[in-house]
Amino acid sequence: MHHFTAADLHAFEKIYRLNLVNALPGYKPANLVGTADDEGRTNLAIFSSVVHLGSDPAVLGMVTRPTTVPRHTYKNVRATGCYTLNHVPATHAGAAHYTSANFPREESEFDACGFTPVYRDGFAAPYVAESQVSIGLRLAEELPIKLNGTVLLIGTVEHVYIAPEALRPDGTLDLAAIDTACISGLESYYRATPLARYAYARAGQGPQRIP
Ligand SMILES: Cc1cc2nc3c(=O)[nH]c(=O)nc-3n(C[C@H](O)[C@H](O)[C@H](O)COP(=O)(O)O)c2cc1C
Repeated sequence: MHHFTAADLHAFEKIYRLNLVNALPGYKPANLVGTADDEGRTNLAIFSSVVHLGSDPAVLGMVTRPTTVPRHTYKNVRATGCYTLNHVPATHAGAAHYTSANFPREESEFDACGFTPVYRDGFAAPYVAESQVSIGLRLAEELPIKLNGTVLLIGTVEHVYIAPEALRPDGTLDLAAIDTACISGLESYYRATPLARYAYARAGQGPQRIP
């Protein structure tokens, strides 16, 4: 086993540290965040930090990097209160990755990276037509993380769109059926293969496999 202490991590060359530490959480979700500014100019950016915070009300969090440089997604979310999360299809991993490039504000990543913006049900932020799972959220809370200047954006779910082949009768999602990608670090994209499904765990019963 390699053993690294906090002091070792701190001493590593910047890119090596960034690569290693970004991979520590394990597989992360791959979402494209769709926003628009006050004038309706669209923006799209890949985010891997989306996390479930609660089901009733449905709440999701995502972490935005320090706002010391212009962050178009964050600016648009604050301006309109609305943003969308759109699962990255494995077939579109390269295009999704390209949205992380530093595009000027006037240039939409939708056009530059080959995604189609679509507005649904009067919501102010654009969805990604190519995604099989899309969510419309409204900013509810911002939690500044004092330690490093990042911000946890907390949004309530207002709309959910799911391709029928992904939605099982019990409400769970079959993400392999729609080929949703996942991420490690800031550079590796994976296609997931199903391993097993288990029923709600109860002490004394052992893991109960769902056939
Ligand atoms: C795989 C991957 C995951 C990323 N995840 C995040 C994230 O969770 N939060 C974040 O602020 N930036 C993340 N980024 C960086 C943004 O995609 C990048 O800063 C982008 O330019 C932001 O665009 P914007 O200025 O239009 O908001 C990620 C980049 C990559 C390649």
